[in-house]
Formats: sequence, structure tokens, C-alpha cells
Amino acid sequence: MRPLRPDHFQSTFPQAPPLKELRDDVLRIRHALDVDLPDIHRLDREAFPGAAYPYFALRQFFDVFDDFLLVAEDMEDRILVGYILACPKPDGDSCWLHSLGVTESLRGRGLGRRLVVEVLKLLLAEGFREARLTVHPGNATALRLYESFGFTPDSDAPRPDYYGPGEIRMTMTLRLR
Ligand SMILES: CC(C)(COP(=O)(O)OP(=O)(O)OC[C@H]1O[C@@H](n2cnc3c(N)ncnc32)[C@H](O)[C@@H]1OP(=O)(O)O)[C@@H](O)C(=O)NCCC(=O)NCCS
Repeated sequence: MRPLRPDHFQSTFPQAPPLKELRDDVLRIRHALDVDLPDIHRLDREAFPGAAYPYFALRQFFDVFDDFLLVAEDMEDRILVGYILACPKPDGDSCWLHSLGVTESLRGRGLGRRLVVEVLKLLLAEGFREARLTVHPGNATALRLYESFGFTPDSDAPRPDYYGPGEIRMTMTLRLR
């Protein structure tokens, strides 16, 4: 059941300290843990201002899809700097990449690409036939990233009102096998 006041959690979230730079020796990509949720929520709000998941929704995603929720951790500063969430359909055939975010100060350095690589490796290992996602047609960075992996727009894309009135999105698909 959904909590009545998800905003209650907002005041308790940690603020991230200033970041240094992206260094291979201090960065690792791993599965998310329960204790990561406040930090993932911070990243999600940073990546999607005004459209972030409420905390309870992230918790519910984690409860069901924790095998497919990856985080990038700066082990020196002990903070999360990126995350990716994939949600497999019960048929085991297709899997939606529902969320991807990199902290603003570290964008453009290959971290988003690495997160996508790691999650696609998971999907391949699990035998999924296809990966799917949505992206705003104006999000040139994300579009280029997905296209570089071979994601292609679905035949009916872009779909107006996909996420409600005025919320146009491209739906894209990548065949994995
Ligand atoms: C989308 C996002 C996750 C990309 O992460 P990132 O770490 O900055 O991306 P990378 O550095 O790995 O770059 C991956 C590709 O994105 C594209 N890209 C990156 N920065 C770009 C820029 N400033 N302009 C255009 N394309 C860009 C390039 O194609 C790049 O590939 P290349 O390095 O081979 O040229 C990040 O910008 C972000 O968090 N954005 C806000 C949330 C969001 O839009 N999420 C996706 C929703 S569908």
C-alpha cells in the first residue's frame, strides 16, 4: 500500500558532498542495496527535476526489481553518482529500462554509457529477447546514447500524450537475440 505522505521523507535525505572527478580506481558499478535508496532518490530528483519518482515508488521498484537496479558508487567519497533501473516483464522476454541518471557534475565522461553496458550485460545473461525504453524526443544526449547501442524508434514513435497530456515520448527497442 502507498504511504499517505511520501513528502515526509524529503527532509531526511542526505545532501551529496561536492564531487571530485570520475576516476576508474574509485568508481564501481554494483547492485543497489536497501540503504542506497535515499541516495538514489537524490540522483533521481537531480536527473528528472519535477518528475522524479516519489520515494515510495523507488522503494517499490527496489522491492521487486533489485536484481536490475544498478548504482555507480564513488568509493572514495562514499556517494552514489549514477543509477540505472531495468524492469523485466514477467514473460521474461522483454525488459524496460525505466530510469537512468548521472549526477550533473560527472556527465559527459562515459558513466551513463557504462551503466547501460552493465545493465544490458545483465539482460543478455538472463536471456531477454529485447530491451525497451522511452525517451523525450528533445533529450538529444540520451537519444544519441541509446542509438549508439542500436536502440531504434518503434514504428509508432513518437507517441504524443504517452505519459499523460502533452507528455510526448519516443519508445525505442533493442533486439538482444
Ligand atoms: C543521459 C545521461 C544519463 C547520460 O549520461 P552521461 O554520463 O552524461 O553520458 P556519457 O558520458 O556516457 O555519454 C554517452 C553518450 O551520450 C551522448 N552525449 C553525452 N554528452 C552529450 C552532450 N553534451 N551532447 C550530446 N550528446 C551527448 C554521446 O552520444 C555520448 O557518447 P560518446 O561519449 O560515445 O560520444 C545523463 O546526461 C543524465 O543523467 N541526464 C539526465 C537524465 C536523463 O535524461 N536520463 C535519460 C532519460 S531517457
